[in-house]
Amino acid sequence: MLRYGLIFGGTVLAVACMSPMPAAETASPRSTALGQASNMSKLYNETCAKCHGANGQGGGAGTKTLLTRAGFDQKNDRPYFDAIKNGVKDMGMEAYGETLTEAEMWGLVVHIREMQAGFLRAESGGPKETNGVYASQRASYRIETVVDTDQGLRTPWAIDWLPNGLMLVTNRSGKLSTVRNGKAVGDVTGIPESREIGQGGLMEVAVHPDYRKNGWVYLGFTEPSKMNPRSGMTKIVRGKLKFSGDNAVWTDEQTIFECAPNTFTGSGVHFGTRIVFDQKGHIFFGIGDRGDQAKAPDLTRPNGKIYRVNEDGSIPKDNPFVSDADKAKGVIPQIWSYGHRNPQGLTFDLQGGLWDTEHAPRGGDELNLVVKGANYGWPNVGHGINYNDSPIATPFPKPNENVNGPAFRWLPSIGACGLDTVKGSAFPGWKGDLVAGGLSGQNVDRIRVKDSQLVEREEIVYGMGRVREVTVGPDGFVYVALNQPDKIIRLVPAK
Ligand code: HEC
Repeated sequence: MLRYGLIFGGTVLAVACMSPMPAAETASPRSTALGQASNMSKLYNETCAKCHGANGQGGGAGTKTLLTRAGFDQKNDRPYFDAIKNGVKDMGMEAYGETLTEAEMWGLVVHIREMQAGFLRAESGGPKETNGVYASQRASYRIETVVDTDQGLRTPWAIDWLPNGLMLVTNRSGKLSTVRNGKAVGDVTGIPESREIGQGGLMEVAVHPDYRKNGWVYLGFTEPSKMNPRSGMTKIVRGKLKFSGDNAVWTDEQTIFECAPNTFTGSGVHFGTRIVFDQKGHIFFGIGDRGDQAKAPDLTRPNGKIYRVNEDGSIPKDNPFVSDADKAKGVIPQIWSYGHRNPQGLTFDLQGGLWDTEHAPRGGDELNLVVKGANYGWPNVGHGINYNDSPIATPFPKPNENVNGPAFRWLPSIGACGLDTVKGSAFPGWKGDLVAGGLSGQNVDRIRVKDSQLVEREEIVYGMGRVREVTVGPDGFVYVALNQPDKIIRLVPAK
């Protein structure tokens, strides 16, 4: 314990408000007796199931069930890992620290999390509704359809509103729709060419908070390469809208951020892209690792970063990587933080804290407090395993790794996408809480954080479709863009 404490104190990035992750102790020797396991289910079944049960239900050798809500809590991540590493000697469980790698031992924790989640979902289902009213911890609400599937939305990705109430909705296929009273009433023509490559396409729309004064609307999208239109990279522009009726033409376009031509890739994954305003003259947005995880920590490559620029795209002098030395190394000066996998949710909380949600591999989507200059670990530190059930890393940084850990990790993954902060008067009980969506999880979670720690979490939407966007409207209602089916729903307070 003492040794652990010393390493812990000496190596974790000193950001007072963060919850640092404990550092790993020494690297354990590679697997010997059990071989280097590439399949966590197999490893569990062959090694652990005889005592803990095939599904974690316990019973053998005096084990308790692992399938409890209390056991599922993330606070057990480290104790579970330590139990596997050090054994539970007085109760007959041997230590696996000599025979398994750290990544394998963490992979077993992920396997336990998957068993627990499956059990808890089967036991309690999703949020419960009576006569159309969902009674949650701090608010009762109804779920209404706002824009139905018959309105022709195609993979709606983002929603924002103009001050006159007109809703702007991006379709990933490239169309920017205008929506009024639940009807898709028009288009914005003349927007830049985007390309739907896998998960990419026309993605973000963000109306400037002072739109009435300056008329700016920001877009984030996959720009096709001029050399090879099947390859692309995330680009951010702004422009103005000239309306005739509910249709508009895009004018006065300015490039806010674009990537160097040699960074474009044909990969169809991890474009990031949300845009948020700090109301102090800057915008923040993210770009995912584009399937090239090794580039996420590389400050000379655009992949896997969150960016901060002035609203006109110029580079703030107080960005973290703008020194002459950085410039000489070819560091991208717009970078705010790095080591991200695929930030698809971004929001400022009511205290001005910047949060992102990231789509991680199998197990370990993250909710991070994003701070200046920090490294979020991908791909060297993280909670996930590969989709093929083989281990990658652990969430515990090595002594030489300065990594900020998440306030919360979804384990198993939800396919995190869409994040906002509850404001306005419609849901006083949720004021200041974060609302976070999940694609594969088909969920919206309400999350309360205090002093950068998660203190409360409940699922408020489940099983209605893949959640792409979660955003609080000018009316304070919580709007959710679903894919499959392609529609928009909202949570409204129930009387
Ligand atoms: C010989 C029986 C046995 C085997 C094999 C075994 N365990 Fe255990 N394990 C126990 C007992 C007994 C306990 C303590 C009682 C309990 O927590 O159920 C325990 C505790 C644990 C805990 C802590 C649970 C808690 O609630 O704090 C974890 C995690 C765990 N084992 C994981 C594993 C994994 C993973 C494997 C396979 C690599 C494994 N165990 C193999 C018997 C075993």
